[in-house]
Amino acid sequence: MKNAQDLQSLQSTLYGLRLWGLRDVWLPGKATAQTRPTDSRETRELQGPETGPSPARQEPAQNAAAREAQREAKTKLLKEIREDLGDCRRCPLHRGRTQIVFGEGDAVARLVFVGEGPGADEDRLGRPFVGQAGQLLNKMIRAMGWRREEVYICNVVKCRPPGNRMPLPEEIERCAPFLVRQLEAVRPLVICSLGACASQTLLGANRPISELRQKIHVWRGIPLIATYHPAYLLRNGAKKADTWEDLQSVMELLTSFDA
Ligand code: URA
Repeated sequence: MKNAQDLQSLQSTLYGLRLWGLRDVWLPGKATAQTRPTDSRETRELQGPETGPSPARQEPAQNAAAREAQREAKTKLLKEIREDLGDCRRCPLHRGRTQIVFGEGDAVARLVFVGEGPGADEDRLGRPFVGQAGQLLNKMIRAMGWRREEVYICNVVKCRPPGNRMPLPEEIERCAPFLVRQLEAVRPLVICSLGACASQTLLGANRPISELRQKIHVWRGIPLIATYHPAYLLRNGAKKADTWEDLQSVMELLTSFDA
């Protein structure tokens, strides 16, 4: 290993390999957003129970107190948005849903993932990304050195489209104000849009995801990185490497805010 850059690049590659299911490879050393070991039994023991923020995000006490006050205010704001959504019947999607899937996560998350819309598992459980695609999203989040509870996850539409079809423009239009309010409430440091629907909706661009990724866009002053949807990755494993590149860009952006 010639220098720190080589080491960082090797660590980064190993964490990327986790997206392919690699387990039990970790490099001891200073924990950062890019290097924090995840997942294996050995590392879980070293990290202690899965509560509290990841080591990379532990803060001095006075910052933590301010953040807690902010969390309380933003949680209240999100609750108000959920109340305004109510028992929504603004578009025909309400007819086929079991329940509304509003979104979940830390109200002061530094990173927000935006997906397309609930699938069958999400519709049943009322939570975003809890099916197979959600399992992969969880792996992606962990590979980035985060815990799912530390990010915020939501969708463009809050009700399941029949047969998991793409949401129609008028459905997106009715639901979009609530997505905008959610993102404005959390105002993360970075937004990661998953797949064409979320990326095109937020960017107002009708271009394929392959053209929208690999760029830093800006949504209402917040940097946005578009990448492939986890459900697409389940069908096209070859795109996981590209996705990992996008997630590394997200991590670099987040790290740049710490500098
Ligand atoms: N796909 C999405 O876009 N969102 C979910 O919540 C689940 C699957």
